[in-house]
Amino acid sequence: MSVRRLAVLGHPVAHSRSPAMQTAALEALGLGAEWEYGAIEVAPTEFEARVRALAGEGYAGANVTVPHKEAALALADAPSDVAREIGAANTLVFTGAAIGAHNTDADGFLRSLPRSPAGARALVLGAGGAARAVVWALCREEARVEVWNRTPERAERLCAELGGALVGDPDQASYDLIVNTTAVGLKGEDPFAELPLAAERFAAEQTVVDMVYPGGGSRQLAAAEATGATVVDGIEVLVQQGALSLQIWTGRDAPLEAMRTAARR
Ligand code: ATR
Repeated sequence: MSVRRLAVLGHPVAHSRSPAMQTAALEALGLGAEWEYGAIEVAPTEFEARVRALAGEGYAGANVTVPHKEAALALADAPSDVAREIGAANTLVFTGAAIGAHNTDADGFLRSLPRSPAGARALVLGAGGAARAVVWALCREEARVEVWNRTPERAERLCAELGGALVGDPDQASYDLIVNTTAVGLKGEDPFAELPLAAERFAAEQTVVDMVYPGGGSRQLAAAEATGATVVDGIEVLVQQGALSLQIWTGRDAPLEAMRTAARR
């Protein structure tokens, strides 16, 4: 039997932890001989042609990351309702000539939370692609969502499309859940200078999520943890979305611990 191939498509993609994480998952499931998972660097201009060629090269599916998630939705023959509503797909499935598209970012985010956000007051920082999945998920779960963005017009548009209310000067201590979806921290920026957060204004009852992969560790998560808040980092969100993607491709429950260990290595 020929190997069933999977890959993450991105630009850039070299930093992605998905290949190590998904390879560890396939091995833990005893599927290491039948499936493989790699990384494909693909520029936006090449994206559609590259994706359309994948099925013929033995690919069963793919993950899609920045900046291709909208393009992935646009080229799909069979997008899921969730992907359509969010306006982005992170998981593709190749069945014969047809391309299916899913979004596991939303449910992956929800699974990374310690408890249901139903009824919670939630502050989402950012209005880019990552924010869309988070706001959509929180609104579906009936959280009370407020969105702050450096460029408020973008947050206003997002709220009009997906739900939530624009906030200009959030009262940090008043939220049950705070989610950073901005890129702040990725290149060492100071979250307390760039975001409407103060290190001493976190509260012990809060859950604080930072979607940024920790390079040197997230300064706002360290501050939140010091006040006794529950913290969730970007790796846990990555693991949960990857687990749902793996389930879609293989039909198997994902081995979360093996994925966490590999993603954090
Ligand atoms: P993604 O798909 O990863 O969300 P994106 O669409 O480029 O990426 O969005 C990046 C988000 O990070 C935006 O909300 C952006 O704010 P703007 O809409 O004002 O650009 C936010 N962001 C990036 N750098 C930032 C900074 N230094 N301070 C505050 N917000 C920042």
